[in-house]
Amino acid sequence: MCGIVGYIGPREAAEVVVGGLQRLEYRGYDSAGIAIFEPAAGLQLRRSVGKLSNLVARLSREPVTGHVGMGHTRWATHGNVTEENAHPHRDTSGQIVVIQNGIVENYLELKARLLELGYQFHSQTDTEVIAQLVGHYYREEGALEPALRRALAELRGGNAVVALCAAEPDRILAARLGNAGGVVLGLAQGESFVASDVPAILDYTRDLIFLEDRELAVITREGVTISTLAGTPVERRPVAVPWDPVAAARGDYKHFMQKEIHEQPRALMDVLRGRIDQEAGRVHLDDLRLDDEALRRVRRIYVTACGTAWHAGLVAKYMIERLARVQVEVDYASEFRYREPVLGDDALLVAITQSGETVDTLAAMEEARAQGVPSVAIVNAIGSQAARLADGGALYLHAGPEIGVASTKAFTSMLAAAYLFALRLGQARRTLGPAQIRAHLQALVELPGKAAEAIERALPVCAELAERYHRASDALFLGRQVSYPVALEGALKLKEISYIHAEGYPAGEMKHGPIALIDEDMPVVCIAPRDGIFPKMLSNIEQVRARHGQVIAVGNVGDTELAAKASHLIDVPDTLPLLQPVLSVIPLQILAYDVALRRGCDVDQPRNLAKSVTVE
Ligand code: F6R
Repeated sequence: MCGIVGYIGPREAAEVVVGGLQRLEYRGYDSAGIAIFEPAAGLQLRRSVGKLSNLVARLSREPVTGHVGMGHTRWATHGNVTEENAHPHRDTSGQIVVIQNGIVENYLELKARLLELGYQFHSQTDTEVIAQLVGHYYREEGALEPALRRALAELRGGNAVVALCAAEPDRILAARLGNAGGVVLGLAQGESFVASDVPAILDYTRDLIFLEDRELAVITREGVTISTLAGTPVERRPVAVPWDPVAAARGDYKHFMQKEIHEQPRALMDVLRGRIDQEAGRVHLDDLRLDDEALRRVRRIYVTACGTAWHAGLVAKYMIERLARVQVEVDYASEFRYREPVLGDDALLVAITQSGETVDTLAAMEEARAQGVPSVAIVNAIGSQAARLADGGALYLHAGPEIGVASTKAFTSMLAAAYLFALRLGQARRTLGPAQIRAHLQALVELPGKAAEAIERALPVCAELAERYHRASDALFLGRQVSYPVALEGALKLKEISYIHAEGYPAGEMKHGPIALIDEDMPVVCIAPRDGIFPKMLSNIEQVRARHGQVIAVGNVGDTELAAKASHLIDVPDTLPLLQPVLSVIPLQILAYDVALRRGCDVDQPRNLAKSVTVE
């Protein structure tokens, strides 16, 4: 949730750390802080409430200089958004600084003990408890590493912790407990890096090591030494990550969200690359570790995810059931993990996640593992924890970094990846023959071009609609079958970035309650492509119009019947019914973006949200 960056080497540490934090600001932007070791003056802290730009301004007034340091951008969990609660936190001696991503579940208990021992606290955070605890053990051990190990042994919860001690400025220590916070270590000639996510350090190195659960790294200029928290040495070779740092920059776009909406045609192409053989009518998912026989054994699939990825999961259910004839259940990961699911030995878990770090999704994967059920991850972030947990293989989206907090290109890529997965399953189970697969692949291949057309068509219409409706206080989104998750996703996009209250409903449910909300001020977005359920959708639209609701219909190009019924029509190209959500959602993303702009909202960093949800 929070972003962490640390550096040791010949460069100005503050520049590296702040640059890295800029790449991670999407993870949290309540406050930011930095600690740099200045040889003459010791540890220097600068912290500021609000966005990173405030810290940058502070650093230009009160610069710090040194070659080892670390920084943090915070998404508040414990304690208000204040400077005292901003990281890094110090121990009582002021010689040790700590930053953390995650939650210390037993911090009150630990704090009470430390208070009894006479320690004083200056913040309400759980992180200060770690700093004080490390400081406490440091007094006995005289060295940071054993002190940190002792402190970590007492923490409950999932965390990534980074620590630095003024008496040992030749090293930074980093540790990971549980799945709440990823830790990536970067290696280069004479310098080393630590961060909570890859984009923070890609400008400097592609040689990365991912820390596993309950491991600790000693990071020096010469490299890193890893061991388990119990002290057993760990040998791990760096992996080379191919992401292009330029792709992480915003380029000419006003916002990352806008850029990522426009990247969708490219992302849809990349998800297919190397995975389809159109001539043979076959799908190759080499990253899957399940062969035909294993896929044939699967009788039930549990799809689990959160937020937008969960909406992709709802669409995946239709895809898998229709194409591969396997029963699918879709669960919010946060519910799945606690409901003691009965999975059975013929089950498969499919986790869908952009970041690969979402704590509930990871916990759901662990639940499957505990029950001996293999899991497959449909995931964007390369080398992320979900990718590593997926013993059935990680089906990468290859969508590139998604920085805007509101997910766009990851969603459409998830749909395309789920479609490939459903085809692969159907191929193994022989519910689809080569000729049928060929027809599906043809539709997939045409999708990027159609997505580009959907964007072009939507831009002028959405701008007009946004102008007209941006002052609305509520909106309803309706759809049926695969268009129902699209309605949910359209509502989520609008509410999360424009703060307009929006709800998605299956159109057939409208009469069971939500219809009471409809009046002449209520925009009702109806997703109505020409599929088998279209006539039903049309009659729902008539019911809305009869209550004087403003119908914004998303339909197929040239649908004059729909145009005549709706107040406004946004048209998208048509494709196979199960792929239509990829195209129908595009105008909803653009509409949400345009409305948020007109309302003066912070599109890329909406209030209270963070890109990776690594806490419960
Ligand atoms: C909404 C959004 C979130 C994420 C959710 C899961 O636009 O982005 O709802 O979809 O937090 O995140 P991942 O996919 O990283 O597991």
